[in-house]
Amino acid sequence: MKRLSKNDAPKHITQNEKVMSENDFIVSKTDTKGYITYCNQIFIEMSGYTKEELIGANHNLIRHPDMPAVAFALAWDLIKNGKEFFGFVKNLKKDGGFYWVFAYITADYDTRGNIIGYSSFRRKPSKAALEAIVPVYKLLVDAEKKGGMKASNDLLAVFLKEHNTTYNDLVMNLQKS
Ligand SMILES: Cc1cc2nc3c(=O)[nH]c(=O)nc-3n(C[C@H](O)[C@H](O)[C@H](O)COP(=O)(O)O)c2cc1C
Repeated sequence: MKRLSKNDAPKHITQNEKVMSENDFIVSKTDTKGYITYCNQIFIEMSGYTKEELIGANHNLIRHPDMPAVAFALAWDLIKNGKEFFGFVKNLKKDGGFYWVFAYITADYDTRGNIIGYSSFRRKPSKAALEAIVPVYKLLVDAEKKGGMKASNDLLAVFLKEHNTTYNDLVMNLQKS
């Protein structure tokens, strides 16, 4: 079967939001390249894809164009080096709608300590966090359109400095708010 990726994602994007339930977890696992090896039932329901479509697909299948590339660059940089990533992610559903998550991604290891893949667990993001993060992501996406990743990296650094915080502290405090 064809391995789906962001090239197969819907081109018609809508403003229809599906909101996560309070007690749900969305779970997926990937190989070291980001191809999905496992997904739970909630992931299937939220994304709108079947299990058959998701297994083997590149995780970027659900990448939403409103997400700044810098967020994923940061995520991969951390998890490849065995560190954890936390962040707010807007995902694209098969029907063109979207859903927001508060995501945690971490590496999976074999008994010798080699990274053999990655796992992600997502919960419902706090409302206050989304209100704060949406305008920031918009600025980052606009910066990327004009000046590429360097522009959004610089912008993020200035934003964190102005708020006297680190990326991780910002995300954690937002989710608590
Ligand atoms: C375990 C794991 C889970 C991921 N979950 C998502 C996700 O839910 N949504 C998403 O857009 N990208 C997710 N990614 C990141 C994608 O691999 C990819 O970097 C991102 O969609 C940007 O794709 P692009 O650089 O090809 O545009 C995940 C990666 C890993 C390793």
